[in-house]
Amino acid sequence: MRLTDRTILITGGSAGIGLAFALKFLELGNEVIVTGRRQALLDRVKAEHPGVHTIQSDIADPAQVAALAARLKAEFPKLDVLMNNAGTGAPRNLKTPSADLTGLTVELDTNVGGVIRMTSSLIDLLSANRGTVINVSSMLAFVPVPALPIYSATKAAVHSYTQSLRFQLEDSGVDVIELMPPAIETDMTSDFPEGTPKLTTDELVRQTFVGLKAGTLEIRPGQTNQVAFMRRLAPELLNRQLWRASKVMVPATAS
Ligand SMILES: NC(=O)c1ccc[n+]([C@@H]2O[C@H](COP(=O)([O-])OP(=O)(O)OC[C@H]3O[C@@H](n4cnc5c(N)ncnc54)[C@H](OP(=O)(O)O)[C@@H]3O)[C@@H](O)[C@H]2O)c1
Repeated sequence: MRLTDRTILITGGSAGIGLAFALKFLELGNEVIVTGRRQALLDRVKAEHPGVHTIQSDIADPAQVAALAARLKAEFPKLDVLMNNAGTGAPRNLKTPSADLTGLTVELDTNVGGVIRMTSSLIDLLSANRGTVINVSSMLAFVPVPALPIYSATKAAVHSYTQSLRFQLEDSGVDVIELMPPAIETDMTSDFPEGTPKLTTDELVRQTFVGLKAGTLEIRPGQTNQVAFMRRLAPELLNRQLWRASKVMVPATAS
């Protein structure tokens, strides 16, 4: 993937992994636009990094996605990279009924619905600009962490969707890349059990850029490659190990 002279939208670029990539792409001289729901966070990013464009937008809301796409087409017609990064996840207790059937599927609406909506809304512009889609799934696309059952399922769905997208776009000039991080030090993993191995966002960016420069379409940093191998060699063992390690995270009741 060409890493300079691009116009790049990063959903969920106001914190964590998205922000780390936004700053790296900015450093390389690209035009970078980030989105997020919390305006205060976007304002902070803008104050600290005036070169970054910030737009408030919720990828789980179809109307906001449509409005964002219209604005981008008007204000950034050279947009040629969509990094579908925004995501959310929570430990879930599946053993009792949930009192909030809307909240129960928020991860699906965001992690799957958001990726599909954003891609659909911008695919005409990305095709016209012979662009790149980067979908951020997870190591958990290969094997679930049972304490994060819905989140893990969403990442397996993004992995599947990304493969189909790549085939459908193969003659369109649009490259489709999947980034599959292991656990990374961000707000999302702050409650993970002590001792969970995590990469820093800097190390994730470093390893990912090696893959992007080499033209790798499925980038598997850190532990992800080993997990991909292990799930073929000893899937039962791996599943049980992840259940044992994550059991402590399961809440006492369904949320
Ligand atoms: N951290 C990890 O260990 C890890 C590992 C593998 C994959 N990933 C994936 O990497 C991506 C980024 O994770 P992260 O760890 O950087 O998370 P994070 O630190 O919690 O940051 C999430 C970012 O996404 C934004 N966001 C959340 N929901 C959104 C929505 N509905 N619409 C627009 N923006 C939204 C957040 O801002 P607002 O809350 O203000 O909207 C924030 O900017 C996610 O897709 C995650 O699943 C993370």
